[in-house]
Amino acid sequence: MGDHLSATEYRLLVEHSPVMIWRAALNAECDYFNDTWLQFTGRPLAKEMGNGWAEGVHPEDLDRCVKHYLDHFARREAFEMEYRLRRHDGVYRWIFDRGTPFYDDAGNFAGFIGSCVDVDNRRRAQSDRERKGEQQLASARDFEKWIVAIVSHDIRNPLNAIAGSASTLLEMTDVPAVKRAGERVLRGAERIQEIVADLLDLSRERQGSGVPVARARTDLRSICRQVLDEFDAAAKDRALELRCEGEAVGDWDPHRLAQAISNLVGNAIEHSPPGSPIQVKIDARENTVVAEVHNEGHIPPEVLPEIFQPFKSGGERIGRSQGLGLGLFIAQAIAKAHRGHIEVASTAETGTSFRLELPRNSAGPT
Ligand SMILES: Nc1ncnc2c1ncn2[C@@H]1O[C@H](COP(=O)(O)OP(=O)(O)OP(=O)(O)O)[C@@H](O)[C@H]1O
Ligand SMILES: [Mg+2]
Repeated sequence: MGDHLSATEYRLLVEHSPVMIWRAALNAECDYFNDTWLQFTGRPLAKEMGNGWAEGVHPEDLDRCVKHYLDHFARREAFEMEYRLRRHDGVYRWIFDRGTPFYDDAGNFAGFIGSCVDVDNRRRAQSDRERKGEQQLASARDFEKWIVAIVSHDIRNPLNAIAGSASTLLEMTDVPAVKRAGERVLRGAERIQEIVADLLDLSRERQGSGVPVARARTDLRSICRQVLDEFDAAAKDRALELRCEGEAVGDWDPHRLAQAISNLVGNAIEHSPPGSPIQVKIDARENTVVAEVHNEGHIPPEVLPEIFQPFKSGGERIGRSQGLGLGLFIAQAIAKAHRGHIEVASTAETGTSFRLELPRNSAGPT
């Protein structure tokens, strides 16, 4: 026996292969199906010939399949596709089909030959897995909604009561020890109020509704001034500089912008070398206004791409209370709600700059 299979051996192989085999002539119409194919479809060869096979393809898959087949046939390129094919018992099964061009002995293109296997079990297992994944995701979302409901109603209300009562007590007393205790209660309650508000913003942004904004004619310069004044009082060793060119007025939510600027300036102070200066520069252009917050020190390049994601806090402030890592995520959500965006540039030579860019008229279509 030689190294090669004889024509008869090849024919036997093809006829009795567990794989379904078809062949198409130069006109792209089928002129051969092996026994395995005919047994699968339960139809006689005469019915499958030409384009007859297409009658067994699931109507939802037919157009896609025919297009894929003819496109590749015209280009004489091998193709792979999956479609549902009706079995002899009427059940549609997913089939993997691979077609390749073939050439005659003289090297002329002679048509396509294809082999198919039933991959229905694999497809079914895969879609079961996908369905399970979706269910898990949905229940995680439900859980998040539930937590948010608790946070927003059951925690916010008593918290507001604590902060309000602490303020009242502070107004009513002159006793130094009571005053100190009252101030501690108030500061603690205010910090929790901020965290609760951040968590609500996080969840709104994640559920796709975005942070709510109430637009009014707003001067970004005076907002930056206010924010810097507040930080100035708390960070006395830091030089906080504000420069502004042009009229920085736009149609924005003043509270939300104060929150975004405060997150950026707070970061600049918190995440830069002690005692180093911070600059805020406002560049008012024709249609947009850009606020840039700059500090010394830089963010490692490998951390930079993730910096706007929630709960990414690169702080090494061991022993100090660490932030949740929501500040930049929320600042960016606020920028987006105004149809703007935030960019960061950070190198060892130039330090770190966050640029908040806002269109003056932010209410248009997104
Ligand atoms: N101006 C900056 N300079 C250097 N590093 C920064 C700066 N801003 C942010 N970072 C880095 O990015 C991380 C994420 O910042 P983000 O404001 O989102 O969270 P956070 O400040 O850690 O916590 P939170 O703002 O929720 O209190 C910070 O932990 C810090 O490592
Ligand atoms: Mg922060």
